[in-house]
Amino acid sequence: GSAGAAAAFTLAGCLGGGGGGSETITIGSDIPYRPFEWETTDGELTGFDVDIAQAVFSDQLDYEHEFQKTSFDGIIPSLNNGNFRVIMSAMTITEERAEKIDFSDPYFTAYQTIVVLKNGDISAKEDLKGKTVGVQKGTTGAGAADQLKEEFGGDLTIQRYDQITGAFDALRNNQVVAVVNDNTVNAEFVNQSDVAEFLEGAGVAEEQGKDAPPYLTLTVEEYGIGFRQDDDELREEVNGALATIKEDGTYDEIYSSYFSG
Ligand code: ARG
Repeated sequence: GSAGAAAAFTLAGCLGGGGGGSETITIGSDIPYRPFEWETTDGELTGFDVDIAQAVFSDQLDYEHEFQKTSFDGIIPSLNNGNFRVIMSAMTITEERAEKIDFSDPYFTAYQTIVVLKNGDISAKEDLKGKTVGVQKGTTGAGAADQLKEEFGGDLTIQRYDQITGAFDALRNNQVVAVVNDNTVNAEFVNQSDVAEFLEGAGVAEEQGKDAPPYLTLTVEEYGIGFRQDDDELREEVNGALATIKEDGTYDEIYSSYFSG
């Protein structure tokens, strides 16, 4: 909200009218979506969203908080059914979603990008025509693939996986020739797997005059924390806390522990 940092400062300082005390905020998230939310080999939940949640809900607002695994496709009805209080799942703010839930102020910028196997036969977007691409169900990546299919006059097959790891596995196994997904998550896969690379090219980021990444971008998007539409008070507290951590360096510290750029 417009009260911004000042309100959050008061909340952190004395917990007057808002804030948590012992209340637990449950956070619905589809895991794994590295580097935003994933489990380490010893089962510890970590990631950018996980650290932002700690900073916002617990350090700033004094709530307890707890992540709850849920499938991404269906995460919005699940929030509205009361299965958890908020969504933090690297979720892009879209008009369609904003009809069903409310979003916090944006906390991260992302792009839809395409990864392909190194040394494969896909070197430009047009090479995908007639081929099969993989996406995660219900994501903006799936939407970007639908758009691509339209561009190709229907000549594209889209395989939808419950989790992004399913799409990455399919790429490794040559069941799809490309994965359409958020840039930083694709970058993590490219770095970890050593078999994939970004499809090069100028994209919409460049057209929009955004800091264009050195690969093809199909969209420019912003992530928000999702709330039920009757949860204004909590949403405003969270916006205040987000403003505070952006101002006091906490956000940058978290950012630089996951992203180099
Ligand atoms: N940003 C994309 C979207 O909102 C993908 C999010 C997927 N998140 C996840 N945790 N699996 O559709």
